[in-house]
Amino acid sequence: MTDLSITEADIGKPFPVRGDNVKKQEAIANHVLSRLTNIKGDKLRGKTAVVTGGSSGIGLSIVQKLAASGVKVLVGDVQPLREAVEGVLYMQTDTSRWEDLLSLFKRAVKEWSRIDIVIPNAGIGDRGDFFDKVDESGDPVKPKFDCLSVTLIGQMYTVKLAMHYMRRQVPQGGVIVSTVSRAGYVAESIPVYGAAKHGMVGLMRALRPLTKTWNIRINSIAPGITDTPALRTLPDLVPKLWQSGIPMNTSDDCALAAVFLCANEDYNGNTIFINGGKFREVESGYERHLKDIMGNDKRLSLSREEKKMLGEWIRSMFKMRAETSSKEDIFTPSSKY
Ligand SMILES: NC(=O)c1ccc[n+]([C@@H]2O[C@H](COP(=O)([O-])OP(=O)(O)OC[C@H]3O[C@@H](n4cnc5c(N)ncnc54)[C@H](O)[C@@H]3O)[C@@H](O)[C@H]2O)c1
Repeated sequence: MTDLSITEADIGKPFPVRGDNVKKQEAIANHVLSRLTNIKGDKLRGKTAVVTGGSSGIGLSIVQKLAASGVKVLVGDVQPLREAVEGVLYMQTDTSRWEDLLSLFKRAVKEWSRIDIVIPNAGIGDRGDFFDKVDESGDPVKPKFDCLSVTLIGQMYTVKLAMHYMRRQVPQGGVIVSTVSRAGYVAESIPVYGAAKHGMVGLMRALRPLTKTWNIRINSIAPGITDTPALRTLPDLVPKLWQSGIPMNTSDDCALAAVFLCANEDYNGNTIFINGGKFREVESGYERHLKDIMGNDKRLSLSREEKKMLGEWIRSMFKMRAETSSKEDIFTPSSKY
């Protein structure tokens, strides 16, 4: 776990977090330089982005911050932007539908010929499918799991499409930052939402050793409770929460973390937890504590040869041989992502 101090200036230049000392010193020097020159958003200027669920709340704040940093943005959402943002394109998209998302990505490629940034953000809350619902004869009602369709499957479709286009463009690569949640790590009493968000964290962990092969970075933000229109649909809750002293975020706090991850190439496979407007990188802590959690599982410390053998097996299973460099470890349970 690493507490981070992120400000607008950090969107411009890399912020030092890890690496060897030389790399760290270079990063610090860059960071200081960025503070001195403070050219806000210069790292992102001219890039292109697709943001799902970008019409409201956290997504809209991410769109505003990307646009302010000189990024060309296409929003895919079921509703138009709640506030117009100059230069930002909108396309009606239901992210639970593959065909809609495919059209969204094709539109971005048609507009700009490449996609540098993808933000799978659209998500809806738990609809209570796991709680006791019975029909007139007392039988349990088949759950619809709408929350999974948008919050898990929709975001997975978005990541898959992002990888498809980023792998094939020249120069190859890009960055994906998914809006996950605190519920991706701790999910009390919201089982379907918790499953969706844990699913997205799991997806990131599984993909992070692969994506780097294609110069793609995959990261997440995990907001705690955030004051957004979604939360404000629940009468009186938000003012009570602000008064209660329970840590709350603004959408802007979350957007700052997301755009920071877009701009800073040090990050792959990381999650920034945002709580009460404070930032903490959490995946490094999870990695450090794996032995405590898993016990003496030998796969946590495989030799190079063992990793190679398992990597070959996974490659042949998915017929990836032609697509990945044989030098890359694609099987890295405890990775240096
Ligand atoms: N608000 C919080 O406390 C909180 C905390 C952690 C994570 N999150 C996550 O942040 C993300 C954004 O939530 P928010 O609070 O800003 O909500 P919001 O309702 O303000 O914004 C969500 C946007 O997604 C869009 N959307 C919903 N279903 C869609 C679909 N099928 N296809 C396309 N667009 C769709 C909505 O129209 C809306 O514009 C979600 O993934 C949510 O799970 C929110």
